[in-house]
Amino acid sequence: MTPITQLHPNGEAPPAERLPDSQPLYRQLADHYRRAIGSGVLRPGDRMPSMRAFMQRHGVSLATATESYRVLERDALIDARPRAGYFVRVPPAAGLPAAAEPDLAVPPGAAQFVGIHSVISSIVSTFQRYPDALNLGGATASPDLYPTEALQKAALRALRRRPTLLTAAGHDQGDPELRAVIARRALDAGIHIGADDLIMTHGGIEAVNLALRAVTQPGDTVAVESPCFFGLLQALESLGLRALEIPASPSTGLAIDALAFALQTHPDIKAVVAVPNLQNPLGTVMPDAHKARLVELCAQAGVALIEDDPYRELADAAQPPKSLKAWDTDGTVIHCTSFNKTLAPGMRVGWINGGRWHPRIGMLKFAQSRHNEQLSQVVLGEFLATNAYERHLRRLRDRLRIQRERMAAAIATSFPDGTRFTPPGGGMFFWIGLPRGTSSAALFEAALKEGIRIMPGTVFSNSGRFDHFIRLSCPSTDMDLADEAVRKLGRLAGRIAM
Ligand SMILES: Cc1ncc(COP(=O)(O)O)c(C=O)c1O
Repeated sequence: MTPITQLHPNGEAPPAERLPDSQPLYRQLADHYRRAIGSGVLRPGDRMPSMRAFMQRHGVSLATATESYRVLERDALIDARPRAGYFVRVPPAAGLPAAAEPDLAVPPGAAQFVGIHSVISSIVSTFQRYPDALNLGGATASPDLYPTEALQKAALRALRRRPTLLTAAGHDQGDPELRAVIARRALDAGIHIGADDLIMTHGGIEAVNLALRAVTQPGDTVAVESPCFFGLLQALESLGLRALEIPASPSTGLAIDALAFALQTHPDIKAVVAVPNLQNPLGTVMPDAHKARLVELCAQAGVALIEDDPYRELADAAQPPKSLKAWDTDGTVIHCTSFNKTLAPGMRVGWINGGRWHPRIGMLKFAQSRHNEQLSQVVLGEFLATNAYERHLRRLRDRLRIQRERMAAAIATSFPDGTRFTPPGGGMFFWIGLPRGTSSAALFEAALKEGIRIMPGTVFSNSGRFDHFIRLSCPSTDMDLADEAVRKLGRLAGRIAM
C-alpha cells in the first residue's frame, strides 16, 4: 500500500509515512480521506479518484477500494454519481430557507405596457464600464464547457463535404438535414413532428419574437410568468404588447390556477408564454401534471401557448423532462428552442415548431430575415449525427452540477440572514431572495466595483416586486474564483441589507 498522510486537492496521495496498522486497510484508507475532507484539503464537489486510480495509488485490491468508498458513502462524506464517479459530498445548503411561494390570493393586476428597455440599457452600459468583471450574470456556460474543437472539426468536414456551402442559397425553412435530426431528437422531449414542421431561427429569441408576432397585434395582452426572462419583456415592449404577470412558484413554475383566473377575467389575453423546463430565473422544472393542465387550459381558452424551452436538456433528471408540446393535440403550443445554451452560444442556431400558426410563422420569418446562415446549421447537423452531443450533454450537466453545488455551499455560508433560495433542478441559475428591503440595484453597482457582474432582480419583472432578488449564474470553470466572488457578494449583501 502507498503510505498516506496528506492529499492533494485532486485526491492524489504523495508518498509519506505509514499510518499505524491497527485497523483494517479499507478503514485506514477511509479515515485518510475522511481527514482530507474534514480539513478542507478535499472540498465539496471535488472528484474522488476513480476506483482504478485508487487501487493503483494505494496498491490495494478492488474489494478494499470498494469497501473504503462504501464507508465514506455511508458516512455521507462522498456521493456516487451515475457514470461520473465519486465526489466529495456537498452539504445541503443548511441555514437558508427555500424561496417564498407567491401569494396566489392576490388577483393579477392590470396588464401593462412594458417599460424595461431603459432599465436593461442602463445595466448593459454599466457592464461595459467593467469589461473584466467576473461574469456571474450571464445565461450561457463558460466557453470551455462547450465542445470547441469537435465543432471546429465538424466545420471543416462540412466545408469539404459541401463546397458551395458559403455561396449557394439555402432552404427557406433551414437546412433539411439538421431539421431531420432535430425532429428525431424531439421524440425524447415527447414531441412527434417531421422536419417540415420546423423553421430554423436566429436563436431562441427570434423564435419567441416570431411566435408573438404570429398570434398578437400591437396593444394585445400576453400572460407571462413573474418573474420572467427579461428578453421576453424586451420583446413585448418592442412589439407594443402588454404583459400580464402571473405568479410563478419556485417549486412548480407558472401558477396554473392564477392563470385560469386571469383567462376568465382578462378576455383580451392572446397568448401565454411559459418556460416549463429550468425557468429563467427560477430554475424550476414544472411537474408533468401541471404541464398537462396548462396545455389543456390554453387549448380550451383558444389562446396560443408559446413554449420557450432552451434549457430542457440541462435538467438534472436521469431522463430529460418533457416539453409542453408533448401534451399538445390541436396545435395550441408553439415550441421555441435553440442550441445556444446547450451546445454553441456563438452559432445562434434556434428553431420553432409553430403548431397551427406554422404557415404564418414561415411567412413572417421569410419577410423578416429569409433563411438562416447555412454554415452553422450544417456544422451542427454533422455534430448531431454522432452520439458526441449526448456525451457532451452528460459532461456539461455534470460540470454545471458540481459548480452549482460549490456555489450553493458558498451562498449558504456567506449571505446574510434572511436570504432565501430554492436549489434549481439543473442548469446554471440561482434565484436568490435577499432580506426584504435590500436593493439589488445597489448590490449590482457595489459588486461591479469589486469586479463581479450579477443580474439584479429589477429586470425580471415590470412590477418592481423582485427588486430585492438577484440572479447568479455558474460562470466559469475556475471554481475557486467563483467561490471567492460569491463570498465577497455575500459580505456586500450583508452590508447593504443592514
Ligand atoms: C428563457 C429564455 N428564452 C430565450 C433566451 C434566448 O435564447 P437564445 O440565446 O437562443 O436566443 C434565453 C436566453 O437567456 C432565455 O433564458
